[in-house]
Amino acid sequence: MDLMQLMQERYSCRKFEERPVGRDVIERILEAGRVAPTAHNEQPQRILVIDEKETLAALDRCTKCRFGAPAALLVCYDKTACWHRARYDNAPSGEVDVGIVTTHMMLMAASLGVGTTWVMHFDPAAVRTEFSLPENFVPTAILVMGYPAADAAPAPAHSEKKAMDELVFDNKF
Ligand SMILES: Cc1cc2nc3c(=O)[nH]c(=O)nc-3n(C[C@H](O)[C@H](O)[C@H](O)COP(=O)(O)O)c2cc1C
Repeated sequence: MDLMQLMQERYSCRKFEERPVGRDVIERILEAGRVAPTAHNEQPQRILVIDEKETLAALDRCTKCRFGAPAALLVCYDKTACWHRARYDNAPSGEVDVGIVTTHMMLMAASLGVGTTWVMHFDPAAVRTEFSLPENFVPTAILVMGYPAADAAPAPAHSEKKAMDELVFDNKF
């Protein structure tokens, strides 16, 4: 399948089989994140694999958006390791870096037949406590994943995309 077709057909999966995602498959997904570009190549992403009964239960105390997925990746960045735009406004790159890393992993998962939903609707304080995060780790994205249930389907929002002329501007306002 070519990349554009993969990107069009990927959707947020919110109904999964119970079948676990093997560690070999998870490792291939993690590898896609490892090779992602990051600002100044600082690679500040720090990822926790959550695929055991106890850690999945801990995740459920942080978000309602696991959707019964048998695995999840908690994607943090180390705020002491990410690049900062120091010359201008000192903006940190961590959230952008996590966005790229997570997108790589999401698309790799799709290419392996693993469904995902990117979850931002979580309680960061609860995540920090449940997973004993170091103070310098910022939990930024959770990628819940598993094999799509036979009746899993895209939500209507999947196909509700704005027209190109709403998204690309030419600054002649
Ligand atoms: C940064 C980000 C945060 C998101 N957070 C959530 C979330 O917390 N819960 C959820 O069910 N979906 C979440 N989504 C999924 C979006 O709702 C979904 O990608 C969007 O509606 C388009 O649908 P599609 O992914 O099926 O194409 C998130 C997606 C992104 C990119």
